Amino acid sequence: MSTKQKETGRDAKRLKLGYIGCGLMAQKIHLPNFASLPDCELVALAELRRDIREATARRFGIPRQYPDHHALLADPEVEAVALSASWTQQGELARDCLLAGKPVFMEKPMAVSVPQAQEIIEAERRGGGRLMVAYMKRYDAGVVLARDAIRAFRASGELGNVTYARAHGFCGDWLAALDVPMSQSAEAYPASPEPYPVWLPAKWQRPYLEYLQQWTHNVNLLRFLLDAGDKARVRYVDLDDDGEVGVTVLGLDGVRAVVESGHVAHHGWDMFTQVYFQKGWVKTTSAPLMLHNAPEQVEIYRAGPQRSLQQPLPEPAWSWSYKREAEEFIRCVRSGEAFASGAADTLTDVRLFEEIYRKWLTDRGEL
Ligand SMILES: NC(=O)c1ccc[n+]([C@@H]2O[C@H](COP(=O)([O-])OP(=O)(O)OC[C@H]3O[C@@H](n4cnc5c(N)ncnc54)[C@H](O)[C@@H]3O)[C@@H](O)[C@H]2O)c1
Repeated sequence: MSTKQKETGRDAKRLKLGYIGCGLMAQKIHLPNFASLPDCELVALAELRRDIREATARRFGIPRQYPDHHALLADPEVEAVALSASWTQQGELARDCLLAGKPVFMEKPMAVSVPQAQEIIEAERRGGGRLMVAYMKRYDAGVVLARDAIRAFRASGELGNVTYARAHGFCGDWLAALDVPMSQSAEAYPASPEPYPVWLPAKWQRPYLEYLQQWTHNVNLLRFLLDAGDKARVRYVDLDDDGEVGVTVLGLDGVRAVVESGHVAHHGWDMFTQVYFQKGWVKTTSAPLMLHNAPEQVEIYRAGPQRSLQQPLPEPAWSWSYKREAEEFIRCVRSGEAFASGAADTLTDVRLFEEIYRKWLTDRGEL
C-alpha cells in the first residue's frame, strides 16, 4: 500500500462505478454509501434532468456526467453500474446495462411483469453482466442472524417442524428524519415505459404497482428466511378495494406464510416477520428503514422445561442494511460470488405478485 493509500484508507484497485438516476434513493442512500466504501470509486453519473445531475455530481465529486444511461455505458472506464429509477423504468435500464456486460446493482422491484423480468434474465445471459436486486433486508445483519437460526433449528429438529410464517407490514415513517441533503429538480419528471402484465386492466395498474413495490420486501424476506427459492405459490388473497390492504396467504416450500399488508399512522416502522416451529419461534423486527445502523431485532423463543426468550445481537451490533448491500455488491463483483438477491431468484417475486393480483381480480369477477 502506498503512503497516499494509507492516508486515505483507499484501495488502489477500487471498483469504478457509474450511477444512473439522481432521485431520492440515489442522493440519500446509495451515493453516500458507495462513496463511503474504500474499495469503490464513483467515476460517472447519468441523469436525464440536468439540474439535479450537476448538483449531485458536484456534491459527491463525481468527475464525469452523462445525459442518459446509454452515454454512461459507452464510458470505457465504468466497470460496474448501480441504478435507481421509477418502478417501471429501472428494469429497462438494468436490461440495457446487462446487455452491455456490466455487473448491475438495481433497486427493487426488478420488473413489474414476468415478461419484463424474463427479458432482464435473458440480457444477463446474452450480455454477460450480473444483476443484484437491492433487497436490503437480505443483507441486514439481524436478518442474516435470524435466517441462520432458522436453518440451524430446522437441521437439528430442536424446535420441531416449521408450522407457520407471518410477515406483518403496516409501514409508517420509513425516513426517520434522515437529514442527508437532497437537490430537487425544476425539470419535468421523465415519462416512464409501461411494461405491465398484459392481462392487467388499466384501472388496476397503479394499485398493482403500489402493492408490488411495497410488499415485495416482505415476500422476498419470507422466501429468504424459509430458504424457499422458487417453491412458492399463492393460496388465498383478500385485499380491500384499494388493492393494497389485506391478507395474502402463500405456500412457501410447504409452509403456510401470511402477508399482512396495511398502513398505520405511526412514527416508527411497523414491520416484523415470524417463523413458528412446533416448540418456539424466530422473530425479526424492523426499525424505520432509513434509520442508520439499526439492524433488525431478533427474538428466539424456545418452549419446554428449559424455556427461554433470547434476543441475540448480530456482529457487528450496529450496522445499516443499505450500506451492507452496497458492500456486498462490490465484494461479490470482485470475488465472482453469487449475489444473495440475484435476478433468477427475484423472478419468483415478480411471478408471485402477478399471481396474487390475478387471483384477487379473478375472485372479484374483474378478469
Ligand atoms: N429499498 C428501499 O427501501 C426503497 C425505498 C424507496 C424506493 N425504492 C425504490 O427505488 C427506486 C427509485 O426511487 P427514487 O424515489 O429514488 O426514484 P426517483 O423517481 O426519485 O428518481 C429516479 C431518477 O431517475 C432518472 N432517470 C430516469 N430514466 C433515466 C435514464 N434513462 N438515465 C438517467 N436517469 C434516468 C429520473 O430523471 C429521476 O431523477 C424505485 O423503483 C423504488 O421502488 C426502494
